[in-house]
Amino acid sequence: MKIGLIGAGSIGAIHARAYRELGIEVAAVADLQEAAVKAKPEFANVRYYADYRQLLADPWIDAVDICVINRLHFEVIQAAVSAGKHIFCEKTMTDNIGHSTELLGLLRDYPKNFQVGYMKRFFPATQKAKELIDSAGEIFTTYIRSYQAFENHDPYSQDTWKPKGGQMSQIKHFASGGMLNMAGSHMLDVMHHLVGKARSVYATNWVPEIYDAELTSNALFKMENGSTVHFEAALSPYSRAGLRQDGWDEKIEINGKNGRLEIFYVIWDQPMNHAPMIRFYSQKEKIQTDYTFPKVNAFALELDSFLKDCMAGRKSVPGVKEGFAVDQVIDACYRSAASERAVELAGK
Ligand SMILES: NC(=O)c1ccc[n+]([C@@H]2O[C@H](COP(=O)([O-])OP(=O)(O)OC[C@H]3O[C@@H](n4cnc5c(N)ncnc54)[C@H](O)[C@@H]3O)[C@@H](O)[C@H]2O)c1
Repeated sequence: MKIGLIGAGSIGAIHARAYRELGIEVAAVADLQEAAVKAKPEFANVRYYADYRQLLADPWIDAVDICVINRLHFEVIQAAVSAGKHIFCEKTMTDNIGHSTELLGLLRDYPKNFQVGYMKRFFPATQKAKELIDSAGEIFTTYIRSYQAFENHDPYSQDTWKPKGGQMSQIKHFASGGMLNMAGSHMLDVMHHLVGKARSVYATNWVPEIYDAELTSNALFKMENGSTVHFEAALSPYSRAGLRQDGWDEKIEINGKNGRLEIFYVIWDQPMNHAPMIRFYSQKEKIQTDYTFPKVNAFALELDSFLKDCMAGRKSVPGVKEGFAVDQVIDACYRSAASERAVELAGK
């Protein structure tokens, strides 16, 4: 498989290193910033295109890995479909529910593969949790907390979160939103994976006056299975909180009638250095068990799975439906926060 990477910024370089771990060198790269790209060791000798459309027209390339910012995903996915490539796209799938709905139609019968970059599913901890979830019994309540702190920074005075000179903030430009789109979107995917789909949501977002993206998002989901999920994503001031005491303070706690399942996640850009852990409490045995896991690069695992699916002619999961599901709840959270009312989620 020859892979073309579109967008060679921070996550593009992480993906290139993950392919290298799999024994694969990226075949071509498209990015607007030629000098910056060529200065990176990951891309020094890689075929370069300034325009991603030229990369898509390159018949040598079998699959594309889209690592541009969220607001560009839709146009690049559409162009990649026209070019007939296998497609991996970083999360969120799009930044607009209309575009995500269009992709459901466009990709339904697409003969090539499509995967969205919700890599937390590929951690052994998440996979073990999927095995254990039935032992927890009927779920009644779930708590999700995604707190992200920045070392030595007061999160509430960061310039990247503030609009300047009539332009949107760097964060809003990058993520098309705030904490919901950033760390929050991954945990919403984990929610779908382990607890199921949401039926309705009531959300509040905290966007202080001088900001243009939410620093905190709180949501109460009523799930299709009748249970309730309390969700919070926040830019946190606690730089030594969390499992590894490094400011990445993120967990899901699922309470079922027979037991409680908790997963503690680790800082996003060093998955090869830290491993998430699970704690399971069984009411039948009245025992709490901790499960630890080997350190793995979840980016390498998700890309490996994508490539294997491409070669086997399988459709990857998380694919377009899972990408849509997250985009749909994010959209519902924004609408609920703006209207101060609960929002129903239409089944798709
Ligand atoms: N899975 C994760 O944990 C995770 C973590 C961080 C970011 N992301 C996602 O990765 C994506 C990119 O994030 P990033 O941090 O690498 O951003 P970035 O700004 O560091 O990189 C984006 C790159 O795209 C290039 N670019 C911009 N317009 C382009 C165009 N028209 N054609 C080609 N290249 C273009 C830029 O020059 C830049 O090099 C986002 O969708 C983000 O949500 C995912």
